[in-house]
Amino acid sequence: MTILGIDVGGSGIKAAPVDITTGELLAERHRFDTPQPSKPKAVAETVADLVHHFEWHGPIGVTMPARVKKGVTLTAANIDKKWIGTNAGQLFAQATGCPTLVLNDADAAGVAEMSFGAGKDRMGLVLMLTFGTGIGSGLFIDGILVPNTELGHLKLHGDKAEAYAADSARKRNALTWEAWATRAQEYLDHIEFLFAPDLIILGGGISRPKRMRKYLHLLHTQADLLPAQLQNEAGIIGAASAARILADGHDFGF
Ligand code: BGC
Repeated sequence: MTILGIDVGGSGIKAAPVDITTGELLAERHRFDTPQPSKPKAVAETVADLVHHFEWHGPIGVTMPARVKKGVTLTAANIDKKWIGTNAGQLFAQATGCPTLVLNDADAAGVAEMSFGAGKDRMGLVLMLTFGTGIGSGLFIDGILVPNTELGHLKLHGDKAEAYAADSARKRNALTWEAWATRAQEYLDHIEFLFAPDLIILGGGISRPKRMRKYLHLLHTQADLLPAQLQNEAGIIGAASAARILADGHDFGF
């Protein structure tokens, strides 16, 4: 079965058709810049442009960098505040004419890694962490997603942890990889103390193999610690996989 996965981020919106039984992209992914300001109507138009680019008519799965309940975006940390309270599911469905499932970006990346990547066949408590503009989290218990955790917003040094340890903090403060790893370690220690996960998967922009080599050896956790395997495609693949429930006619209350 093929579903179009669409990953909405602060700077780019990327899409590709995904074979959701294997997790493979069936065409090269296509990207448009996220409109600035990233207001709902403008983003919905870009999502529709991507749907037209692929001449797509079936179900779509769309990620948002926000907490999403029953299609409604409830937060907006790295995207226009107009999204708070917007029914993103309805908006995208109207703009594209496609049945639409919307979920949090890190939850989607986690779904992809649990199905096809570093978390495949892993039971127990697995935590996907994406380090990019913010820090996103996807929590799984025995392979089942506990949706909408916001562990990038835990407090660290009096601010949101993502302000201190996201990849954007590394860039903003021109940190060396060593200095950033010290911050990431503090964050991971806090997470481990609170949740005692069995496996932590590191994803987002920092998970490119070339980057991983610069810092992975500096991080130490009691949990197994693995780089994400699907890297930048995890959001697209996870969005498409999660949207399977539309095609199956179920509603799990995302
Ligand atoms: C948002 C999350 C999102 C994460 C990664 C955070 O600032 O609150 O919802 O998953 O960034 O984009």
